[in-house]
Amino acid sequence: MHLPKPLDYSQKESFYKSLLQELEAILEGEWLMDLANTSALLNFHLPDINWVGFYLLKDEELKLGPFQGQVACTRIKLGRGVCGKAALIKKSLVVPDVHAFPDHIACDIRSRSEIVIPLLSDSEASQVLGVLDIDSPIPGRFDSVDEEYLKKLCKVLVIKTNLRV
Ligand code: SME
Repeated sequence: MHLPKPLDYSQKESFYKSLLQELEAILEGEWLMDLANTSALLNFHLPDINWVGFYLLKDEELKLGPFQGQVACTRIKLGRGVCGKAALIKKSLVVPDVHAFPDHIACDIRSRSEIVIPLLSDSEASQVLGVLDIDSPIPGRFDSVDEEYLKKLCKVLVIKTNLRV
């Protein structure tokens, strides 16, 4: 069997372009399978992370979805933690030092920095469907290039998996 090779993260822009191509190739249009495989793909290719996965919004609460990493908290109220805040304001949050984020919810004590991208519906109203959450044991792990391309990735994901409320 052909074993995939990790993409070269030192060339960030081309890394993310290839990652987006790989993502488009594996998405099948069924959200549960697609989110599960996306978390596996990100976990395989992104260096220096300890948790990657999804929370999905239902009844004013983010509920744990497909992920890779340690056992995590299952429910996060809208507005709470980094995930709930990003979902509430419908904006991505890059947190270079989670210990300096007053309401950070620690699921894995190794996490030192975090990025959260809201999954926004493709409609004009841009409803929040959930979030993509990635944790790293390295402070300041995520920058504006990660943010830019992970936002693109979330857009592709919402459209191709037909993710809805
Ligand atoms: N740190 C997140 C909680 C989820 S875990 O990191 C998997 C937060 O503060 O919302």
